[in-house]
Formats: sequence, C-alpha cells, structure tokens
Amino acid sequence: MKEQILSDLKNKCQNCMKCELGKTRNNIVFSDGNPKTAKAILIGEAPGENEDKTGTPFVGRAGKLLNEFLEKAEISRAEDLYIINTVKCRPPQNRVPSDAEKAACESYLLKQIETINPEVIIFCGATALKSFYDKKVAISKIRGEVLELEIGGQIRKCIPIFHPSYLLRYHSLEEGSPRDLMLKDLKKIKNLIK
Ligand code: SF4
Ligand code: URA
Repeated sequence: MKEQILSDLKNKCQNCMKCELGKTRNNIVFSDGNPKTAKAILIGEAPGENEDKTGTPFVGRAGKLLNEFLEKAEISRAEDLYIINTVKCRPPQNRVPSDAEKAACESYLLKQIETINPEVIIFCGATALKSFYDKKVAISKIRGEVLELEIGGQIRKCIPIFHPSYLLRYHSLEEGSPRDLMLKDLKKIKNLIK
C-alpha cells in the first residue's frame, strides 16, 4: 500500500516540470531508506552533483560524512530512516533552492511525510528547518531541541541538526564543537526512535 503510493508519486516527480529545476536535472532524487521500517524522516536541503547523477540523496562528500555520524550514533540509514530533500531536483551550482521552488515541490514532500507517517522528523540544516519553522532562529541556537510541530495533519517531534556540509569545515571533536554537538543530537534522536 505505502509502496504503491510512493512509487506512483515517484513517477509523477519523474515527469514534473512545476519549477525551473526540472529543466536542468539529470535525475530526480526521490528518497533513500526503507519506507516500511523507517522510524524517522530526515530532510536535507537539495540534491548536489552526485545525487543528480545517481538519483539517491546524500551520496557525495556530505553524505559520506552523514553516514559516519549515523553509524557512530547507531542509527541505521537503511532501516531506521527515510531520507528526502526539500526539493527533488538539483539547483544549478548547488545554490539554495528558492522559496518558489520549495513551494512548487512541497506537495510531494508532504505526501511522502503523510505516507511514511513518522513520529520523528529530522531537519538536517537551515533550509529544511526554515521550510517548516517560521520563527527566525539560527540552526546553531535551536539544534538538538525537540519541536512539536503539526506537519501533514499530525503533531510530530521535529529535531533540527547541523547539515553535514557545514561539519566538513570544522574538524574538532572537542566538547561543544559542531561535530561533538552533531553526535550528541543524533544520539538523542536514537533514543527517541528506539
Ligand atoms: Fe518538480 Fe520538485 Fe523538480 Fe521542481 S524540484 S521540477 S517541483 S520535482
Ligand atoms: N545535501 C543535501 O542537502 N542533500 C543531499 O541529498 C545531498 C547533499
């Protein structure tokens, strides 16, 4: 049932030209993870070059770093998560997707959330956070907090975390460093979903 809804939706996206990004994509990037077993949805920003080539989210440098953190927190990317982005097509030069592009793509995102119906949603980075949370607050101030937000007709626990591309620039593992905080946030999420 879930699989059918998601595969119909994916077919729709494959033919979608609702925004400019449809003109330059090579592949839509629909999702990764397991719709049957996922306990949380992780929402990133947008596909990059490697994702556009392969059709899978978070497979480039940022994706590899995300995988390392997930492993350390004992979250299974393949079983515990369903991974998506705010838009399904790559923005040229990896720019941030515009509000108009996010709005054009939002119905697909909401349908994925309603179909998976997770209790927990992870906003991975500021773009995902801003899509669902309208108060102006820096990701560094709000990361790790559990926000109760109504998304897709349900109140869900939503947790903002740093985006792995940001962590590529900060290597320290010292207490309170971005990487230290990322691991702490993911461990907190592990406790929420286990
Ligand atoms: Fe359609 Fe979303 Fe791709 Fe825009 S980004 S063309 S709305 S699938
Ligand atoms: N960054 C994202 O936000 N999403 C991806 O899929 C890849 C990199």
